[in-house]
Amino acid sequence: MICCILLLLTLTSCVCGTFVVNVTQSSYQAEENHNITLEWSFTAKTHTPSDSLIIFCQLITDLRASVLYHLHEGVESQDEQFSGRVQCDKDVLREGRIRLHVSRLRTEDSGLYECQVVTSDGRSSGKCHLKVSAAVDQPQPETPTVRPQPETWREIGLYVGLTVAAVSVILCPLLCCVLCHCLTKSADEKQRVDTASETSSLSKRSTIYDSNLSVPTSPS
Ligand SMILES: *[C@@H]1O[C@H](CO)[C@@H](O)[C@H](O)[C@H]1NC(C)=O
Repeated sequence: MICCILLLLTLTSCVCGTFVVNVTQSSYQAEENHNITLEWSFTAKTHTPSDSLIIFCQLITDLRASVLYHLHEGVESQDEQFSGRVQCDKDVLREGRIRLHVSRLRTEDSGLYECQVVTSDGRSSGKCHLKVSAAVDQPQPETPTVRPQPETWREIGLYVGLTVAAVSVILCPLLCCVLCHCLTKSADEKQRVDTASETSSLSKRSTIYDSNLSVPTSPS
């Protein structure tokens, strides 16, 4: 009986000894808002059904531990810190490789990442470090190069509009004055011409009338 138990223990320890989880890189460095792929490898056997595979990866910092990726019975989950930012490459999982793509890195993603893998062959874990440095001068060059263009265009538009308005404000009364002046001048001239012609016609008429008047008086 004791022999059997001892045999079982040695067998399981033997199995545990053969199952390993390695890290392809022991430490990573990245910049804030960039993406990174963390990679582990484990002893995979072709006959291992994928449903019996459990992966539990977590970030361990001085303050807390948060789940980066958890695969259990084919269901994936993670903590809110990493929700929507982690993608596991399922194609390479069968080959015994865990590839986790972490996008839009934050400085608080820095720390020790540990992945535990449990299969029917055994369990093991591997650790790696990630340091995310703050983006110092990344958003600043974008703002002065991208934003001024619409602003300058707006300013140019504003200046053009203002000058047009100013010019029209100055020119309109001037034009009106000139027009009025011209109109009154022409009207005056016309009137003068009219009065002149009228007076001439009147004088003509009066002379005719005079002559008409004088005509009947002369025979009598
Ligand atoms: C893990 O690393 C050891 C030592 O580098 C290597 O011999 C072994 O093949 C690796 N196993 C896997 C599954 O990557």
